[in-house]
Amino acid sequence: MTSIRKKKINGKYYYSLIERVKIKGKWRYNTLESYGTTPPIKYEPKIIKGFAEAELKKIPDDSVDLIIIDPPYGIEFNTNFRKEKTETIGEISLDNDKIFKSFPDVVMECYRILKNDSALYCFSRWDVTHKFMAILQKYFKIKNRLTWVKNNWSMGDLTGSYAMQSEDIIFAVKGKHKLNNGRDTDILSFDRVSNQKLLHSHQKPLDLLSFLIRKSSKREDTILDCYMGSGSTIISAVNLCRKSIGIELNDKHIEVAKKRLQPKQSPPSKRHTLHS
Ligand SMILES: C[S@@+](CC[C@H](N)C(=O)[O-])C[C@H]1O[C@@H](n2cnc3c(N)ncnc32)[C@H](O)[C@@H]1O
Repeated sequence: MTSIRKKKINGKYYYSLIERVKIKGKWRYNTLESYGTTPPIKYEPKIIKGFAEAELKKIPDDSVDLIIIDPPYGIEFNTNFRKEKTETIGEISLDNDKIFKSFPDVVMECYRILKNDSALYCFSRWDVTHKFMAILQKYFKIKNRLTWVKNNWSMGDLTGSYAMQSEDIIFAVKGKHKLNNGRDTDILSFDRVSNQKLLHSHQKPLDLLSFLIRKSSKREDTILDCYMGSGSTIISAVNLCRKSIGIELNDKHIEVAKKRLQPKQSPPSKRHTLHS
């Protein structure tokens, strides 16, 4: 959970991005980014309905500072949580073949719109990572296969395979990209979104996205996610005072993203409830 802190020092206000974390049962605040005396702005994201491969063509060259994508690689394991094998949107079945037909065009456009010396992160799964990498490396330099280690695992084949507790994230760059805030390892441990809170079957945690955004961009940069889903990337970008663009073809997911972006209404206080 991140928020902006405003602190008065010698008569001047200083702004910083802070994170609230529970360590040994106590809440602590970590400073993630310092913004000096200029008040940070929360930018309204640009949400576009349509196919990534068509909509990206309308975005100017060298205009985006960071790309985070989570392409639909279809075939889900049949878990106890979800029963469907493929996600179907109207006439479009998001199976592996469909995504690998359109992905080369998407990657070409991503390369064109990304500024030089910038990064692209692509969520993936062990059995399709090699296919995504083969397409990505036609344009980008692949630097790492990051492993997102989750706090729980899939059900899948209960007796014939190891329970899957990780997802891949391909880290690729255009030109030379410098990571912020020191050196981290390629193992990223972040809790997945709990089933109770899940608004999209492939929803990624805000904390993980916030980490990637802070590693590879700065305040006011433009972040793009052209498979936006429920809007997790753009929500993280807004929280971190970045500009953002989300492309998604499913109306239902766009509505969810817009709802998530609305400012939270704080519940009436006890005192208010008693007297109203
Ligand atoms: C894996 S999900 C992304 C989930 C997202 N990371 C989140 O946290 O909610 C992929 C999304 O891409 C959308 N999609 C599939 N094909 C697309 C295309 N060609 N253009 C744009 N969006 C597409 C799907 O509707 C789906 O919501």
